[in-house]
Formats: sequence, C-alpha cells, structure tokens
Amino acid sequence: MTSKAQQWSSQRAFILAVTGAAVGLGNIWRFPYMTGENGGSAFLLLYILFVLILGLPVMMAEIMVGRAGRAGPMQSLMNMARENGASPQWRHIATLGAVTLFLILSFYGVVSGWSLAYIGKSISGDFAGQPPNVIGGIFGQFLENVPLLLICHLIFMVLTMAVVARGVTQGLERLNNLLMPLLYLLLLLLAGYAVTTPGFGEAMKWLFLPNPEAITWKATLDAMGHAFFTLAIGACALMAYGAYMPPEQSLPKAVIAVAILDVGVALLSGIAIFSVVFSHGMEPAGGPGLMFVTLPIAFSDITGGTWLSAAFFVLLLLATWTSSINLAEPMVAMLIDKGWRRGQAAFAVGVAVWAMGVLSALSFNVLSDVFPLQALGGIFAGKTVFDLVSSIPPDIFLPLGGLLIAIFATRVMPASDGRAALGGGEAFYRRWRKITVMISAPLVALVLFVSLLKLWGV
Ligand code: PFF
Ligand code: NA
Repeated sequence: MTSKAQQWSSQRAFILAVTGAAVGLGNIWRFPYMTGENGGSAFLLLYILFVLILGLPVMMAEIMVGRAGRAGPMQSLMNMARENGASPQWRHIATLGAVTLFLILSFYGVVSGWSLAYIGKSISGDFAGQPPNVIGGIFGQFLENVPLLLICHLIFMVLTMAVVARGVTQGLERLNNLLMPLLYLLLLLLAGYAVTTPGFGEAMKWLFLPNPEAITWKATLDAMGHAFFTLAIGACALMAYGAYMPPEQSLPKAVIAVAILDVGVALLSGIAIFSVVFSHGMEPAGGPGLMFVTLPIAFSDITGGTWLSAAFFVLLLLATWTSSINLAEPMVAMLIDKGWRRGQAAFAVGVAVWAMGVLSALSFNVLSDVFPLQALGGIFAGKTVFDLVSSIPPDIFLPLGGLLIAIFATRVMPASDGRAALGGGEAFYRRWRKITVMISAPLVALVLFVSLLKLWGV
C-alpha cells in the first residue's frame, strides 16, 4: 500500500469512528423527544445555533488535545499540563468525563434495550394493522414488563462490553459504516411517507416557523446540553480519536462533515415523528416514549411495514451500539492505564454501569414514584433516577466538561501544538481560537450560570 492510500484510510477510519460515536439514540430518540418538550422550532433553532457556535469549536478543541497528546485522555491532559508548567490537576477533566460517561451509558443502555425489544415486536407483527392507540398501549405495557425490560437491558450491556473487552471496535465500526447508509435511507423513506400524511404541514410549521415565546431558560439549557450530547463531546470520549489522524489532515473538515451528518439524521427523524404526532392528534411532549410510539404507527401504515420496522430497529441498534462502545471505552482505557487487564476492566465497568442502569429501567415501573434528589429542588425536583441521569449529565456535565476542555486547549496547550493539531492553517487556527475564547467558552458559562439560577427560581 502506498503511503497515500494508508493515510486516506486512516482519515477514513477517523471519520468512521467519530460518526459511529455521534450518530445514535441522540439523533433519533432524544432529539425529537427534547424538541417535543421544548416547543418545537424554538428548541430546534437554539440547538442548531449551539451546534454551530459551541459544538464545532469544542469538538475541534477536544480532538486537538488528543491529537497533540497522543495518549488516553487523562494521560494526554496530564502530559501536556506538565510540559507547559500547568497543574497536573487538569487531568481531572477526564475524571469528570468518566463520571459523565458512566451516568449517560447507564440510561443509554436501557433505551438501547427498548430498541432491541422493538426488533422482536416488529418481527412478530405486534404493530401490523393496529390503530395508533393500540400501538401506544404496547409501549405502555412494555414499560410495565419488568423482566423483559431487564433482560433486554442486560443483553445490550453484554453486547457492548463484549466488544470493548476484546478491543475489536474497529471491526464493528466498519460494519456500522457499511449499514448506516441503509438507516439514512429508511429515515428518508419515513420522511417521504411523512409528506403524504395530513399532519405534515403542521409538523413543518411547528418545527420551522419561528416561535420566540417558547425560548425559555429550560429550552436553552436543554438545547445546549443536547448539542454536546449529540456530537458526543464534553466528556473526553472523542479525545483519543485524534491519534487516528495523519499529521497533515485537516480536522475542521472532518468535524464539519460529522456535524452535518448528525444534524441531518436528527432533522429527518424529527420530520417523520412530528408528522405522525400531528396526523393523529397526539401530544408533541410525549416524553421518552415518543419515538417508540410514533415510528411503529408510521410503519404500520406503510406496505411492507413489518419488515421495514424490524430493519429500522436493527439499524438503530447498530447505531446505538457503536455509540455505547464509545461511551464505555474511555472508562475502560482509564482502568487499563492504572494497570488493569482489558477484560477485567470491561467487566468491572460493565457491571457498574449495568447496576446503575437497572435503577433507570425500574424508573418506569417499580420506582416511578421515587425522586431521589427531591430535597435539592429546582432541576432535581420530581425526577426519577432515569429523569435525573438522562438530563443532568447531558445538560450540565457535558457543557461544563466542554468549557474546561476549551479553556485547556486555548490556555494550557501551546499555540504551536494547537495549530499543528487543528491542521487548517495559521489563519484558521487564529479564527478558531478567537471564537472559542470570545464566544464559545463565555456562552457556555453564561447559559449554565443563568439557566441554573433561573431553574432554581433564584
Ligand atoms: N452522540 C451519541 C448520540 O447522539 O446518541 C451519544 C453520546 C455518545 C454522548 C458518546 C456522549 C458520548 F461521549
Ligand atoms: Na448524535
């Protein structure tokens, strides 16, 4: 192989890996559900704004640190801090990241388990020819079926940790890359079907007609958190991926490609889901079940829907699988750096995440009245374990981690390293730095500060 071909393949491996981490439940399940709870177009607008002015620069910062550090997140942060006379405590950005990844993976595994169950429900024809209320009822009954929920969750966690334990993530990423175009195709088909439904016009208005009254501090915080969540940034999960990149490759191009793909998947999914919502007079704020109710309704209405639905949930599972692996890998890598064997580390992380996930799975039935942090009030009040782990880490920990990474990449990492790691030329580096220092970092700090004060009613 010529050196050119090799470099091409490692640039490709880089984009594949990052896309695998980015595209997942965040796009197809969480984005519509968050949009539904936050007034439609207001949330969509904020989300796209935050992807552009926070997501892109911070994603570059995070990968630059790994690219310059050429080691695991904690090691990269510590080495670079030491070499530049900064405190080794900077490494705790990676500690915060590990805590965040732990909590996120705990609920991510549960919802991935739902997708697994829905493959089975699709194949057995549970949705075929059923009216919307029956399909909604199936989801409700499913959440009451504790043994089934726990089995699906367990199977998914075993699938994830088995790949991490063997360190064969690249094989899965290749399979993912092969099949992801099919997922996009199915989403396009769903969006095309949506155009023919009576609710399409209303869905488009609701998603795209500006609605400034709906811009609240809650919507702002949720949109910021979701921008970080969907791009998989702020928890050092993408940090190590920078090492894949050949030295002269430009990071900005790769990052922009991933962001466009990621937002595109979310938009297609939103169009399909809200067309069903408005066609059937359903509630946009349908909560975490929104996708699991609306898409089976759409498929039940399409010829060949049973198989298309099964195929859809298989592809969704594959997309969430690669994201889960990316969530787990940094925690496992951290234990390996501390001298653990990969297999042991994967087992320990898997068991801990699984146990936490069980509390999330039970939040929909046995523990549905348990609000563990009720006493703290504000954003913690009235939230089950699932509600807490699916909102606090994405909304607060990811932006906080991203802010610290941005500060590290602009204050601690020397400009010469940064310029080489970004790889878009001197002028681009200066522009990136200016935007990060003057806009992205202050904006994250401002939104976190004000929205938390407001949500506590201060
Ligand atoms: N980006 C993934 C999604 O949209 O489903 C979720 C995710 C993966 C978040 C990895 C954070 C992360 F570090
Ligand atoms: Na995503």
